[in-house]
Amino acid sequence: MKKIVFLSGAGISAESGISTFRDSGGLWENYDIQEVASIEGWYRNPELMIQFYNERREQLSTVSPNKAHQIIAKLENRFDITVITQNVDNLHERAGSSNIIHLHGELTKVCAEDKSCVTDIGYRAMKYGEKAPNGQLLRPFIVWFGEDVPKFDDAIEVMKTADIVVIIGTSLKVYPAASLYDYAPNQALIYLIDPNEVTSISKKIEVIKEKAAAGMELLLNKLSLIY
Ligand code: APR
Repeated sequence: MKKIVFLSGAGISAESGISTFRDSGGLWENYDIQEVASIEGWYRNPELMIQFYNERREQLSTVSPNKAHQIIAKLENRFDITVITQNVDNLHERAGSSNIIHLHGELTKVCAEDKSCVTDIGYRAMKYGEKAPNGQLLRPFIVWFGEDVPKFDDAIEVMKTADIVVIIGTSLKVYPAASLYDYAPNQALIYLIDPNEVTSISKKIEVIKEKAAAGMELLLNKLSLIY
């Protein structure tokens, strides 16, 4: 079986009704990224951070995977698939994908401040002051700016095995995630699905300038012609 590695970002969940970060009207227009998505923000105002992620978690309970998530899950019938996602939503899981690496954490989980004691809380709100089993404060299980990306090495190893890489719905502005496709073998085919221009592309990439769902339909046709 050929190996396809997807690198997904907020754009794949846009058609499900979740805002992206950097588009016009995106989350970072309405929130200060340093206040709600950095480790310094957590030390400054943990209650605000908890409220921000409680709202995201509650919204997640009201949305569903879209056609793009579903096509990726179905491709497991024909290909060996790993999804490396920057998204903290669970829409790839809910669409049925089985191999998912969450680079930036997961909304439905919380952990201790040292990132141990990871617990699934589903869609419930967490409160400031709740404690993890090890006695530390509970926090959202999210990789914030200023923190390590513990799953990055696993993602590199997967990327090295790719026959095909599909970058979908990411502005490729955030590192180290944006550098991952550099680890794909030279002969790997690389596609990028995005309705907008993604400027920081270094390798030979075939761009499919479409929204995620339509772009995945086009990709399916292309894959059928090759395999
Ligand atoms: N289908 C596909 N792509 C879309 C769609 C759509 N319907 N709508 C928007 N996009 C594209 C945008 O053109 C943009 O290139 O999705 C991309 C979203 O980019 P960002 O908002 O920067 O999101 P992302 O790349 O996932 O951000 C990376 O930044 O804030 C952090 O931790 C957060 O994981 C996130 C990381």
